[in-house]
Amino acid sequence: MDFSLYNPNDVTEIKNLFVRTFSDSESEAEGEIVGSLAYDVMATTEQNDMFVFIAKKDGEIAGSIIFSRLTFENGINAFLLSPVAVSTAFQGQGVGQALINFGLNTLKEHGVALVFTYGDPNFYSRVGFAPVSKEVVKAPLPLSHPEGWLGQSLTGSVIEPIQGESHCVAAMNKPEIW
Ligand SMILES: CC(C)(COP(=O)(O)OP(=O)(O)OC[C@H]1O[C@@H](n2cnc3c(N)ncnc32)[C@H](O)[C@@H]1OP(=O)(O)O)[C@@H](O)C(=O)NCCC(=O)NCCS
Repeated sequence: MDFSLYNPNDVTEIKNLFVRTFSDSESEAEGEIVGSLAYDVMATTEQNDMFVFIAKKDGEIAGSIIFSRLTFENGINAFLLSPVAVSTAFQGQGVGQALINFGLNTLKEHGVALVFTYGDPNFYSRVGFAPVSKEVVKAPLPLSHPEGWLGQSLTGSVIEPIQGESHCVAAMNKPEIW
């Protein structure tokens, strides 16, 4: 498995990976929702405000993760990891964790200080994320599952409380995905 930053020509293949993977794991409707979300982030976000990574096997994209900027009033360099997919046939072989670790290392090299995500703590705790209360760092939108708000510092320190609101990129600013 090869891990790399995406090429903008990969956008349609990446969208299709999300559609397929979430159709298999949840439902066709969920596949369409997450596929469109992934596409919208890639199509509408400034290059400076996102990192898209892929895992490739034999020339085909087998996994993808998307980080988009999370903006705070104090100016800290922060990103949000979502969505994440590993193609059904490759799940359970460590690809998801290896791809996320590859992404986190790259963000660290780019000076990113904090990374947040919204998902299953049992999975994301394997790659360094821990629950974050809204008193410490506010999510950009109201959460239907507050226990899924997770974060980690890439600078070796604990996450200090951040005052004020956080803002996600436009494509992630949809109440129904939170
Ligand atoms: C979640 C996902 C990205 C994990 O990638 P992966 O390559 O299968 O994961 P890894 O092989 O690195 O890690 C597997 C471990 O994570 C656990 N895990 C996998 N998917 C999980 C999930 N959705 N929730 C909780 N734990 C999960 C497995 O139990 C496994 O643990 P084990 O090794 O003790 O059996 C992938 O399974 C996937 O795309 N699933 C469908 C879409 C999805 O749920 N996306 C993430 C939304 S939060």
